Amino acid sequence: MSGGIGSMRKVAELAELAEGRGKRVEIGDEKILLVRDGDAVRAYAAACPHAGAPLDEGAVCDGRIVCPWHKGAFRVSDGALLEPPALDALARYPVRVDGDGAVLVSPEKIAPEPARRAPDARAVVIVGAGAAGTAAAAASREFGFGGSVALVGREPGLPYDRTSLSKFVVSGEMPPGEVPPLRLPGFFEEQRIERIESEVVRLDALAKRVHTADGRSLPYDAALVVTGGAAKRLSIPGADLPGVHVLRDRADAAGILAGAREGARAVVLGASFIGLEAASALRKQNVEVAVVSPEPVPFGKQFGPRLGSMFKELHEANGVAFRMGAQASRLDGDGHVEAVVLEDGTRLAADLVVAGVGVRPATSFVHGLALAEDGGVPVDAGMRAAADGLYAAGDIALFPLFEGAEPTRIEHWRVAQQHARIAARNMLGGSERYAGVPYFWTYHYGKRFDYLGHPTEWDDVVVDGDTGEHVFVALLVKERLVAGALGCQRERETAILSERMRAPLPVGEALRLVRSA
Ligand SMILES: Cc1cc2nc3c(=O)[nH]c(=O)nc-3n(C[C@H](O)[C@H](O)[C@H](O)COP(=O)(O)OP(=O)(O)OC[C@H]3O[C@@H](n4cnc5c(N)ncnc54)[C@H](O)[C@@H]3O)c2cc1C
Ligand code: FES
Repeated sequence: MSGGIGSMRKVAELAELAEGRGKRVEIGDEKILLVRDGDAVRAYAAACPHAGAPLDEGAVCDGRIVCPWHKGAFRVSDGALLEPPALDALARYPVRVDGDGAVLVSPEKIAPEPARRAPDARAVVIVGAGAAGTAAAAASREFGFGGSVALVGREPGLPYDRTSLSKFVVSGEMPPGEVPPLRLPGFFEEQRIERIESEVVRLDALAKRVHTADGRSLPYDAALVVTGGAAKRLSIPGADLPGVHVLRDRADAAGILAGAREGARAVVLGASFIGLEAASALRKQNVEVAVVSPEPVPFGKQFGPRLGSMFKELHEANGVAFRMGAQASRLDGDGHVEAVVLEDGTRLAADLVVAGVGVRPATSFVHGLALAEDGGVPVDAGMRAAADGLYAAGDIALFPLFEGAEPTRIEHWRVAQQHARIAARNMLGGSERYAGVPYFWTYHYGKRFDYLGHPTEWDDVVVDGDTGEHVFVALLVKERLVAGALGCQRERETAILSERMRAPLPVGEALRLVRSA
């Protein structure tokens, strides 16, 4: 539809639009977000293009509209996409403010401008079609690249939302075949992105070529390696028994789902995010769940003992039994797993075992480039690896989070896509650097937790709200500055923090922000 102004109607008064948040109005079936931009007003689709969050429940901060659910961000002035996990700009509506301060909007969307792409002889090859790979392919076209783009991935079908697997597939709410694709069918053809379903068996960084299992040899001017993590397998006797699973891809989730019948007994090894999300999902299926982990509390390293205990108590209240400070020494079973035996000799009956014990970068096919000990790919803040035309992003990228920081790997969906957009810019000749705030979300028993920052140490934890009720923002504070934050059911507050933590944020200022949100 084109934007006609003939059908404009009054929907609000300028004076009722606050600076820090949008207002949702409806005209017929159209749900429209009004955002104040000085004396002007902008009108956009009210639902986030990522997963449909109500953007009026997010924040408007420093010229950005921030989504409440996963903190995707859009430019106030034109709705352009600024931060993933959204991969699209906001749809726009014609809007004006008349002399009396009345805000008038047309419900007919403005047609997006066709992308202008200059012909380009360069070839980009993206290895890995997950979070980062898909975002990079889409971004290369969004940024106007007119050359060839090949997206090579070994998983069958369209790239999909991996984060749903542990939340909604294992719980039985979403069949494995209905996990949302990251881009709709037709997108890749329309955008002239060649999707190749094959494993990359060799990337030769010196020859600038990618070789696939189905016999292709793809030369590149720029290549992006985004192959993510391979779930670590257990290295104890019995680890290969049927019924023992990891959880990384759709096939893994389908395997766990098949064993998740009511009354079955599951043992989750590792109190990781994935392990505990799987525990929550299995409880939804009335599976008996025990979690075994060597640490004293879950997530102690990420959030400290108090917040870690909160997660443990939430799981216990939902029927999970914990064996903290314990390790499995072997798995027993005759043709199928039957029990997990702990180092102290305790035997836990098990029809199903889920190992959530971490990942290692899936980079063994990379040649001609020095990798980190764990297989990570060292890159600079612009995602450039130490070989001509080669970039890496996402879970495998060992990158400096800020200037002077020790390089680190961060395994978060949005970080992978932030990396991807920077890499796409730079592959096409840009000079962007990572300057984002790491963000992770995790989902347990219907509650979404937002985690911001990537602190390795802190000297205080300041809580606003009630952790027992799971309505809170907890600030991890280092030398009076906010180093990280964990929030639950305070989405607007964490949306504001996700923006304000882009610069050093004193704890007093952060508390003022979350209390006045
Ligand atoms: C079950 C689960 C739940 C998660 N939930 C959350 C969450 O709630 N929030 C959050 O922030 N993060 C979450 N994460 C982490 C998040 O999914 C990752 O950080 C993110 O997917 C990393 O993106 P990536 O592009 O680097 O790797 P991936 O998304 O893993 O994509 C890599 C792709 O490359 C493919 N590949 C690997 N090797 C090759 C090869 N040789 N040739 C061709 N293709 C190859 C892989 O099969 C895969 O499809 C979750 C992860 C899992 C497994
Ligand atoms: S719904 Fe908005 S970023 Fe996910």
